[in-house]
Amino acid sequence: MNAPGTATKDESQAPDWVRHAGLRQWVTEVARLAKPDRIHWCDGTAAEYDGLCAELVRGGTFLKLNEKLRPNSYLARSHPSDVARMEDRTFICSQTKDQAGPTNNWVDPREMRATLQRLFDGCMRGRTMYVMPFSMGPIGSHIAQIGVEISDSAYVAVNMRLMTRMGRAVAEWLGEDGDYVPCVHSVGVPLAAGQKDVPWPSNEKEKWIVHFPETREIWSYGSGYGGNALLGKKCLALRIASVMARDEGWLAEHMLILGVESPAGQKSYVAAAFPSACGKTNFAMLIPPAAYQGWKVTTIGEDIAWIKPGHDGRFYAINPEAGFFGVAPGTSQATNPNAMKMLSANVIFTNVALTPEGDVWWEGMTETPPARLIDWQGKEWTPGCGRVAAHPNSRFTVAAAQCPSIDPKWEDAGGVPISAFLFGGRRSSTVPLVVEAPSWQDGVYMGATLGSETTAAITGKVGVVRRDPMAMIAFCGYHVGDYFAHWLEMGKTVHHPPRIFRVNWFRKDANGKFIWPGFGENMRVLEWIVGRCHGQVHGVDTALGIIPRYQDLNWSGMQKFSHDQYEEIARVDVGAWQEEVTAHDELLEKIGTHLPPALAQCRAQLHGKLGA
Ligand code: GTP
Ligand code: SPV
Ligand code: MN
Repeated sequence: MNAPGTATKDESQAPDWVRHAGLRQWVTEVARLAKPDRIHWCDGTAAEYDGLCAELVRGGTFLKLNEKLRPNSYLARSHPSDVARMEDRTFICSQTKDQAGPTNNWVDPREMRATLQRLFDGCMRGRTMYVMPFSMGPIGSHIAQIGVEISDSAYVAVNMRLMTRMGRAVAEWLGEDGDYVPCVHSVGVPLAAGQKDVPWPSNEKEKWIVHFPETREIWSYGSGYGGNALLGKKCLALRIASVMARDEGWLAEHMLILGVESPAGQKSYVAAAFPSACGKTNFAMLIPPAAYQGWKVTTIGEDIAWIKPGHDGRFYAINPEAGFFGVAPGTSQATNPNAMKMLSANVIFTNVALTPEGDVWWEGMTETPPARLIDWQGKEWTPGCGRVAAHPNSRFTVAAAQCPSIDPKWEDAGGVPISAFLFGGRRSSTVPLVVEAPSWQDGVYMGATLGSETTAAITGKVGVVRRDPMAMIAFCGYHVGDYFAHWLEMGKTVHHPPRIFRVNWFRKDANGKFIWPGFGENMRVLEWIVGRCHGQVHGVDTALGIIPRYQDLNWSGMQKFSHDQYEEIARVDVGAWQEEVTAHDELLEKIGTHLPPALAQCRAQLHGKLGA
C-alpha cells in the first residue's frame, strides 16, 4: 500500500469502462507485486468465455466433451492433491485471536501480511492476471455486495462467469467510488521464460486461504479448486459476509432456499442449512412424488442465503450466487432429475470420469457403470478395478438459469419471505427424521449443536461425527459464540421469526442401510413443515420438540415404508440423547465466556427433560 498522497502511476491497463480510480490503483499494486506477464480485465461476455475455454483446451486443462452428447461442455482434471476445500489451511486474521474464536485458524494479521508479501512476490510470472469485477446478488439489489477477484487462473475466470454476475456491468455499477471486497488469488506456480505450463497448476508445498475481516480482504494462494479459488463463494459470501451481517443486522448462511406451492396456491419459502455434501442441491431441486398432484417445488438457491429483516416484519432472503458448483456423485435420474436436465449442456465438470464417447460419468449416475472409462486422474478404468471413477468431491459448474425448477423470483432484488429454517446433517443414529423447535431460542440451540458425519467435500477423515454449528463451522468469519448471540438477537428483529426444524434423512438400520428413502420422498416432511408454519398440522411434544406422529404425515402413494419403520426413524432414544447432549458440551465448553446464557439455559432444560 502507498502512503496517502503518493500517487501510483496507473499501470492497471484498465479499459475505459473502469472509472474507479481506487480499483485501478489496487490492480496496479497487485500487478507490481505478483508480476504477471499480462493483465486481462474480464468483460463477462460469451465471446470472452468461449475464448478462455478454447485456450484452456489448448493448454490441456480442459477436454472438450462430445458436442452432440454434451454441447458446449468441458471436463477438467485437477491435480490429485488439490481436490477439496482445505479447512486446516483456511485463516481468519482478525486483530485478536479471540475475535476469530475457537473454531477458526488464526494468525496475527501483521505476520500474515508479511507471509503474503513473500508468497505473492512474483507468483504470477509468466501468467496472465485476470481481473474480475463481480456481484454477489442481483446487480443493484440492496442485499448484494460487489467483489473484484484477481486471479492467475483462466479456469477460475470461466467458473466465476458461471457462478457470479461478472464483468463490465459490475464495473459500471461500481462507478467511480463504489465499495468492493478485494480478492486476490494465485495458483502459486510462476513460470520461467519459455517454461511449459501443466494442465492443473497448484502449489504442492503451500496453500493459504486468508481473510482479513476488519479490512474485508481475501487472499488465496496455492489451490485452484472450488471454494479455495472461486473467492465470491465461501470466502466472500460466507466468511466476510458473516462479519458484515453481524455488523449490519442480517444473516449470511450456508443455506439452500426453496419455494413450495400447494395445490390451493399457497406459496411458502424455506431455507435449509446442511453441511457440505449433505443434500442441499437435492433438496433445493426436489420433485414431489406422483401422489403430490398440484404441488410444486422451486429453487432459489442451493448453497448460500443472505437474509435481511424486511419492513413487514418478516425475513427476506436472496441467493447471492448466479450458478451452482454441485457435487456430481450420486446425482441421477432417480435422485435429482432436475439436475440431470440442468447438466445437459454448457457445463464445466471437474474430476468426473470420461466415457469412450466423450461424455461424463460418475458413481451413482447409472446403476450399471459403463464397461470402460477414463477415471478422474486420466487412467484407464473398468468396473471392479478397485478404484472410484469420479472423485467423491467431483463437481459440476453450471448457470442457475439452466435449472428447470428455478423460481420465477430467483433474481428478485428484494428477496423472498422465509417461513421456516431447517438444520440437517448426516446422522446414522439418534437424530429423528424431523423435529420442530419449541421456540426461536431452542431452534438456535438446535442449529448451534448440529452434528454431522464428515464428507469428501473437505480434506480429512470421512464419516466421523463432528459439531458443525448451523453448517457454518468452516464459514463463520468471527467468534462462533458471538455468532450464536447474533442469531438470538436476529430473532427479535422480526414480528414472527420463522419456525426452526431439525431434519435427518440419513438414519441407518442394523445393516448400515438408509431407512428413509429420501430425495423426492422428503416432500412428505416438507409438507408437514409448511403445514406447521400455517398452523394446519399437528405433532406430539417430546423432550426435543414437536415430532409428527405417523398419522400426522401424508403417506399417499408411498409403498414399502411401514409404520414400524417410521417409528424407528422418529424415535427419541433417551439414553442416546443423554449422550448426545453430553457431546454438545465439547463445543459449548470451547466457546467459554462467549456462550450466550440463553443457550446454556437451553442445554440445562434439555438435560432436565431427558432426565425426567
Ligand atoms: P455442498 O455443495 O458441498 O455445500 O453440498 P450440498 O449440501 O449441496 O450437497 P449435495 O446436495 O450435492 O449432496 C450430495 C450427497 O447427498 C449425495 O451423496 C447424495 O446422494 C446425498 N443425498 C442428498 N439427498 C439425500 C437424501 O434424501 N437421502 C440420502 N440418503 N442421501 C441424500
Ligand atoms: C462446500 O464444500 O460446502 C461447497 C463446495 O459448497 S466449495 O465451493 O468447494 O466450498
Ligand atoms: Mn457448500
